[in-house]
Amino acid sequence: MAPHQLPNGYSAPLAMDSASGSPVVVEESKTVQMKKRLGLMGGTALIVGTMIGSGIFVSPKGVLAGCGSIGLSLVIWVSCGVISLFGALTYAELGTLITKSGAEYVYLLEAGQVLPNQFAPIPAFLFAWVSIFILKPALFGVIALSFGIYAVEPFFGDCEVPDVLVKLVAILCICIVSFVNCYSVKLANKVQIVFTVAKLLAIGVIVVGGFIMLAQGNNEYLMEGFQDTTHDLSSIALAFYDGLWAYDGWNNLNYATEELQNPFVNLPRAIMIGIPLVTVCYLLTNISYLTVMSKETLLQSPAVAATWGSRVLGPASLIIPLAVALSTFGAANGSCFTGCRLAYVAAREHHLPEVLSYVQINNFTPLPSVIFSTIVTILMIIPGNIFSLIDFFSFTAWLFYGATMACVLILRHTRPHEPRPYRVPTAIPVVMLIISVYLVVAPIAHNPRIEFLYATLFVLSGMIFYIPFIACKVRLTFLSKYLESCVGAVDDGNHHSAEEKV
Ligand code: ARG
Repeated sequence: MAPHQLPNGYSAPLAMDSASGSPVVVEESKTVQMKKRLGLMGGTALIVGTMIGSGIFVSPKGVLAGCGSIGLSLVIWVSCGVISLFGALTYAELGTLITKSGAEYVYLLEAGQVLPNQFAPIPAFLFAWVSIFILKPALFGVIALSFGIYAVEPFFGDCEVPDVLVKLVAILCICIVSFVNCYSVKLANKVQIVFTVAKLLAIGVIVVGGFIMLAQGNNEYLMEGFQDTTHDLSSIALAFYDGLWAYDGWNNLNYATEELQNPFVNLPRAIMIGIPLVTVCYLLTNISYLTVMSKETLLQSPAVAATWGSRVLGPASLIIPLAVALSTFGAANGSCFTGCRLAYVAAREHHLPEVLSYVQINNFTPLPSVIFSTIVTILMIIPGNIFSLIDFFSFTAWLFYGATMACVLILRHTRPHEPRPYRVPTAIPVVMLIISVYLVVAPIAHNPRIEFLYATLFVLSGMIFYIPFIACKVRLTFLSKYLESCVGAVDDGNHHSAEEKV
C-alpha cells in the first residue's frame, strides 16, 4: 500500500500488513530528521522515568492534607493514576494518527485546521509560546532544584542548606543533562533507562520495607480508613493537584514519537506498561509510609520519605536522599529530552527561529534547541523561587491537556477515514475533557487568585509575537544569520533523508 498522505504534504510511514491486517511501518518519511533510537524499553523509561521524580517522596502530605482521611488519600492516588492512563490513552490515538513529535503542539496544529485559515495555527502557537518559555523550563528547573536539595542535604545534617549552593548544584545538573542530550540520543536514552531502573529499585526498597512492617502487624493507621474524610470539594481538588503533579509526565513519549521505533505498536504499549506500573508503585509506597506513620506524623513531616527512612532503615536511611537525588536526576534528563523536542518541532513549523530546527549532523541531536532550552531554564532558576510556579503549571497545563482531548474528537470528525492504529473508546476523551475543565475552573471558582488572571494573560500575550512574526511574516534576518554563525557544525534536518527500513 502506498504511504498515506497527510494534509500538509507530510508523508506518514503507514501501511497495512496484509497478513494480520494491522498497520506497520514500511519506510521512514523523507522529512524525518532524527533517527529512530527509542525502542519499547527506552519509550517506557521516558514515561516512567519522568513521571517518577520527587513527587512520590513529598506529595503524600499534600494529598492527605487535602482529603482528611487515609482511605480517601489512597483512593485519590489510584484515581490520579487512572486519570493519567486515560489521558495517555487519548494521546496514544493522537500519536498514532499524527506520527510527528511535539505532542500537544502538533495535535493542536492539525486540529486547528478547522478554524478559518488565519486563525488555524493560533492555539498551537500559544501552546508553544507558554510551554517553551515558561512551562518546560519551569518543570526542568523545579526538578533540577529538587535534585540540588536532596544531593546537598545529607552533608548539612540539621543545619540549613544555603540557597545559593542548591542553585549551583541544580545548574550543574542542568548542564550535565544538557551535555548528555547534545552529545548523543543513544546516551540520553541509556541514562534514562539506568536511572529509571535505579528509582524503581529505590521504590522497591520502600515497598518491601512496608510489607515487612505490615507482616509485623503495623496496620493500625491503615485501619483508620475513611475516618475524618473532608466534604469540602475545593480541598479535594487541591489533593488532586498534588497527586497529579506526582503523575505528571504521562504524555512525554508523544514529544518524541518520530524517534520511536514502530510507534503504532510501541506508543500504546509503552503507555499501557508504564502508567499502571507507576500507579502500583505509588499506591504501595503510600501504604508503606502509612505502616510506620500516623496521619498526624505524616502531615507534620517535612519530607515523608526521609521520615519513613529514619523509622524503618535506621542508620541506612541515608539511602533515601540518595534515591530521591537519583530519581530527580533521571526525571531531569527526561524533561530535557522532551522539552527541547518541542522547541525543535515548533521551529520546524516556523514558529521559532529556524536555527532551532537544526540537527547536529554527526550525532543526530537537536543541539541548538537543547542549548536554547538550557539557557532559558538557567535564567529562570537564578532569580527567585520557582516552586511557586507549580500552581501556574497545573492551571495552564490542564488548559492545554483539555484542548488536546478535544482534538481527538475534532479529528474524528474532520478525518474520519484515516487509519487509527490505536482507537481510544470515545467515552475516555469525553471524560478527560470534563475532568480538564473541572481542574481549570475549580481553583478559580473556589479561590479566585490574581495569579490565574496573570497566567491567562501570559498565554494570550503570545499574540504580540504571533501577529508580526507569524501572521505578517516579519523576518529578523540579521538575528538568524548571527544564530546560524554560532552553530557552525549543524545542518538543517530537512536536508536529510533517513531511509531505514524498520
Ligand atoms: N511527576 C514528576 C515528579 O513527581 C514531575 C514531572 C515533571 N513533568 C515533566 N513533564 N517533566 O517529580
